[in-house]
Amino acid sequence: MASIFNAMNKQLIPMERFNRDSQVVFFTGAGISAESGISTFRDPDGHWSKHDPMKLASQTGFQENPVMVLNWYADRREAIQKAKPNAAHRTISNFQKLFSNSVVITQNVDGLHERAGNRSIYELHGNIHRHKCNSCGTMIELAKRKMRIINRCACGGGVRPDVVWFGESLPLGTINAAFEAVQRCDLMFSIGTSAQVYPAAQLPVEAQSQGAFVIEINPEPTPFSHLADISVRQEAGLIMPQLYEEFHAQLK
Ligand code: APR
Repeated sequence: MASIFNAMNKQLIPMERFNRDSQVVFFTGAGISAESGISTFRDPDGHWSKHDPMKLASQTGFQENPVMVLNWYADRREAIQKAKPNAAHRTISNFQKLFSNSVVITQNVDGLHERAGNRSIYELHGNIHRHKCNSCGTMIELAKRKMRIINRCACGGGVRPDVVWFGESLPLGTINAAFEAVQRCDLMFSIGTSAQVYPAAQLPVEAQSQGAFVIEINPEPTPFSHLADISVRQEAGLIMPQLYEEFHAQLK
């Protein structure tokens, strides 16, 4: 596995391939928020080590026990509101000043990319701070209503978190735009994802197959690691600033 220091002496990052007009995708998962103190899902202490995902992140689970599910999301929202974007989120904003044609495609629902000032963000799995009405489709921002939980819309319809649950389709416009961005990108950073949940996990594979240079950042190996051009075994908050300095110093 190439160490980042080898990579940073240009042996493994072909800097000559990139310039400020390069199309860049930052693809992220729960691991990019780990250093903000937000639990991931599949780490040893992650959500799915304590809870059955089908009870908390599925339509069936919600129908069986809506109050439990709404409280779980409310607890997560409160933890997220106390958390702050970390160096990895902030570094993406710096990279986006370098690469004007860059997008963030995230599986995360925590909203930390937006709070860090990242732009062109595609939220594949929705946003935990938004709820939607099953009947009239109204979107409800709980923070604006200073509410911990809401389960009934003004129209009388049932309300649920505006996140994608297991077995549900991703928002079509968002996933199509994400695949289009990946099909034309020159460089992808795949950051903090276990690369196990589809269709999102297909994105780095698509990038790789169309010729993009793909840098994976994850302290642990993933099913994608063997495909990545470089797979860096480091925490995102530590290595992203170093990668940025390297690109900033050498980009034409
Ligand atoms: N920096 C980078 N990566 C990290 C860090 C860190 N500091 N800490 C942990 N990781 C890595 C872990 O090694 C793991 O591979 O982040 C990854 C998190 O994986 P998951 O918990 O599976 O999260 P994710 O890949 O985003 O899950 C995808 O699954 O449960 C669903 O909808 C949920 O969006 C989520 C989807």
